[in-house]
Amino acid sequence: MASSKLLAVVFLSSLLALHAPMTTTAANSNLFRDYIGAIFNGVKFTDVPINPKVRFDFILAFVIDYTTATEPPTPTNGQFNIFWQNTVLTASDVASIKQSNPNVRVAVSLGGATVNNRPVFFNITSVDSWVKNAVSSLTKIVQEYNLDGIDIDYEQFQVDPATFAECVGRLVTTLKSNGVIKMASIAPFDNADVQRHYQALWNSYGSVIDYINFQFYAYSASTTEAQYVSHFDNQIANYPGGNILASFTTAPTTTSVPINTSLNACQTLQSQGKLYGIFIWAADHSRSQGFRYDTQAQALLANAPSY
Ligand SMILES: *[C@@H]1O[C@H](CO)[C@@H](O)[C@H](O)[C@H]1NC(C)=O
Ligand SMILES: *[C@@H]1O[C@H](CO)[C@@H](O)[C@H](O)[C@H]1NC(C)=O
Repeated sequence: MASSKLLAVVFLSSLLALHAPMTTTAANSNLFRDYIGAIFNGVKFTDVPINPKVRFDFILAFVIDYTTATEPPTPTNGQFNIFWQNTVLTASDVASIKQSNPNVRVAVSLGGATVNNRPVFFNITSVDSWVKNAVSSLTKIVQEYNLDGIDIDYEQFQVDPATFAECVGRLVTTLKSNGVIKMASIAPFDNADVQRHYQALWNSYGSVIDYINFQFYAYSASTTEAQYVSHFDNQIANYPGGNILASFTTAPTTTSVPINTSLNACQTLQSQGKLYGIFIWAADHSRSQGFRYDTQAQALLANAPSY
């Protein structure tokens, strides 16, 4: 949404719309993103192979507006605390990975599915106070770690879609207009309640959301390549004009879409000119596989026929 190239495509397609049905704005690009830090297994930025021909984002997982000191952690109405392994993913590590790789940016993800094995809820006291607290606590963390953006990954909600949209939309808008962040993404998956919340956000605030990290690995293990491609097409329709990223998980699981099916689908999507990027959950898990699939996904993006 943010790139001038995409704006040009949107403009062109609206001209074509005079004579032809509205075309999609999906396009190939070379954005690779890797979540990191949630598993606390010591994985470092420098462990992960970085292909200089892709745009590479690390996404620290997670910051959560929950307490760290109490057991169990409880909601704090927008006061974000660090829940990634910041003893091995430090502010100086962020500085040095960006220094040695000009194609690297670092973001942080808000929320996540669980904290200490309990569900994380988006749960607020009031919109105005949540936004105020979130802006100040995230500004502090983003500046301390010299981060480039945020990702929104709440998965369970105590508020209606319109309230979620207003809170997160105002947060992202404010952080961008204050110059604190340059990019923002959302990480929905195909669950009716989750989609309602993120589509409400997209419909009101899509212009400040740069990427959609859609969790395609949340589909079942029996998903075929053709079904993956068709799920991708559905998300292009659900998030009109959005930059949809394909994805897979390197976690040891038997219930998610297999990696080879996902990578084959990525190739097909790229041959159809629709593969904006790929993200992986998560570098922590990829390490035991020698980052083989992180390398393969980047090679595919680096060799995009055109974008
Ligand atoms: C939501 O927040 C309220 C007020 O802090 C708290 O009483 C309630 O238990 C929270 N709900 C969940 C599901 O965490
Ligand atoms: C993916 O890999 C699994 C196990 O290695 C294999 O059984 C399966 O046939 C492969 N599927 C595809 C689509 O290549």
